[in-house]
Amino acid sequence: MNLKEEIIRLKKELDVTLVAHFYQRDEVFELADITGDSLELAKKAKETDSKYVVFCGVGFMGESVKVLSPEKTVLMPKIACCAMARMIDEGYYEQNLRIINEAGIPNENILPITYINSSAAVKAKVGQMGGMVCTSSNAYKIIEKGLESSKKIFFVPDRCLGQNFAKSLNLKSAVVGDGSNLKEADIICYNGFCSVHQLFTVEDVEFYREKYPDILIAVHPECDPKVCDMADFVGSTSQLIKYIKELPVEQKVAVGTEFNMVNRLRQKNTYILSSTKPECPTMNETTLEDVYRTLKSIEDDNISEETLIKVNDDVIKWARVALERMLEI
Ligand code: 13P
Ligand code: SF4
Repeated sequence: MNLKEEIIRLKKELDVTLVAHFYQRDEVFELADITGDSLELAKKAKETDSKYVVFCGVGFMGESVKVLSPEKTVLMPKIACCAMARMIDEGYYEQNLRIINEAGIPNENILPITYINSSAAVKAKVGQMGGMVCTSSNAYKIIEKGLESSKKIFFVPDRCLGQNFAKSLNLKSAVVGDGSNLKEADIICYNGFCSVHQLFTVEDVEFYREKYPDILIAVHPECDPKVCDMADFVGSTSQLIKYIKELPVEQKVAVGTEFNMVNRLRQKNTYILSSTKPECPTMNETTLEDVYRTLKSIEDDNISEETLIKVNDDVIKWARVALERMLEI
């Protein structure tokens, strides 16, 4: 049996849209009907009219589709949880709010914004407090909008993204629990991070610049602020792809984001900005066999509970509010 042909057959025969994030393995990515960054995937998956969405990515992405389109059956061949999203749950969210309150900032003066890399339950907490979701491609716009409230922004869970966008907006940031002064900050960040993007260091940038003086450095905003400060370009996965594809082929560029995506970008003059292979273990979990098994379970009317995305109605209600606020902007 040819797995690829079987997947193509099943997709056609069943009412399925196969969705994949840029970080997926090549063999999975190539078969997807929809590909994109987190924002594009949330929007496009919402717009499909197919009954089943089979989502190859990490848990929060499948959950976002379910929250925006509860009538759809959303399946994930592997419900792999983004390590950063796992760093915050409702309890930690509340605990951080208490610390902020104890620093003399009451909830009425706080507007929460959550990076899309968070669970639906955390998004719901944010939605209930009047806040919204952002992604790496629209964070600038969303934070600017949030600031119109004249409240302090509580940014969760990625401290790097919060710090990077605070800098680009000429604002002060602080991180809960690291001893920085929360009262003086415009953006108060939760102390979460992406272990994959922490692999790119100042030394890596220096190494490449010394080796190839004309090289450009392009990184994702989940990288450390010191690395982003040194880069020639900082952008979401889609923005990085556009930037790199538009460069002349002879232009060398070192890229600070996940391996699968960088590897398929261009044949020549593209380097990984790290001596360690920056693979996202959870994004890499989904295999072609997993996709096939999931599609076959639809055909056989034998869907496994383990692949089915379920979000309770209360969470859907408020997480949707937070996501819709972002989509409106
Ligand atoms: P994008 O929103 O840029 O696709 O990023 C998602 C992600 O998880 C990056 O690590
Ligand atoms: Fe999460 Fe980092 Fe993987 Fe992106 S690269 S999905 S932030 S663990």
